[in-house]
Amino acid sequence: MTQRTTTQTPTDRTDDRPTNEQATDAEPATDRSGSVADPVIESRDLDVYYGDDQALQNISFEIPEQQVTALIGPSGCGKSTFLRSINRMNDLIDVARVEGDLFFRGKNVYDDDVDPVALRRKIGMVFQKPNPFPKSIYDNVAYGLRVQGEDDGDLDEQVHTALERAALLDEVEGQLDTSGLELSGGQQQRLCIARAIAPDPEVILMDEPASALDPVATSKIEDLVEELAEEYTVVIVTHNMQQAARISDKTAVFLTGGRLVEFDDTDKIFENPEHDRVEDYITGKFG
Ligand SMILES: Nc1ncnc2c1ncn2[C@@H]1O[C@H](COP(=O)(O)OP(=O)(O)OP(=O)(O)O)[C@@H](O)[C@H]1O
Ligand SMILES: [Mg+2]
Repeated sequence: MTQRTTTQTPTDRTDDRPTNEQATDAEPATDRSGSVADPVIESRDLDVYYGDDQALQNISFEIPEQQVTALIGPSGCGKSTFLRSINRMNDLIDVARVEGDLFFRGKNVYDDDVDPVALRRKIGMVFQKPNPFPKSIYDNVAYGLRVQGEDDGDLDEQVHTALERAALLDEVEGQLDTSGLELSGGQQQRLCIARAIAPDPEVILMDEPASALDPVATSKIEDLVEELAEEYTVVIVTHNMQQAARISDKTAVFLTGGRLVEFDDTDKIFENPEHDRVEDYITGKFG
């Protein structure tokens, strides 16, 4: 395990924080910032490669507990790659290779003794396109619990609780035997969220969870994300700047080349970012 930097709250930062000019290839912008008070996830000098191509370069920052952290940046800058490195979904991509450290509650998830399947129960994931299994609503939610061997008689209760937390129960109660595929897109996405939270994870990763949905369904997902952060740590990728500004507490801005350019309180990023390139991105000048 590599040495970790000392914890520093955002207000501890001093004037020696890297400026635009200093943020060169040799000295990544996130070297001295990126620390939070209660980190659940800590990325330290994380590099990810697909074959010879490097998708993420030297990513260092910390994700705080029970808050919403948004990952934003132009297409191809490595947001999904970073999300997948957290729960080792990149393991499923043959050519993907990870260097550096990714800690979950202080334990490096890439240590030999970490079981990726168990890790993914603690760090669940929701994808852009709702992907319910071709099974009943009930079985979709019960799936993770059965895999986990927790079918101990409380299954009904656990399924109901997960559907309730995912703000779907009211709409599907009494029809839990119908196929998940018969639900609307927005309902399917909340079903996928119910499936992800049923095993009681600590972290929920969401990769553009509302981008395939209409405004009403999107707003339901946004409300839900904020509610989920009362119990879970949420990391969400979005291309929607307003959405990031509305629902997240912290924002990490990735830019082309797979670099993290700035990480800070969401208000700071959107009102007064340190880097011109971040300002240009969030005001829509590029990307
Ligand atoms: N399975 C893969 N095999 C090879 N290269 C990949 C793979 N997945 C992603 N990449 C490459 O890694 C880089 C980062 O991709 P990634 O999907 O993480 O970006 P992103 O920020 O999520 O983009 P988008 O906003 O379009 O979803 C890109 O250059 C992409 O082509
Ligand atoms: Mg992506």
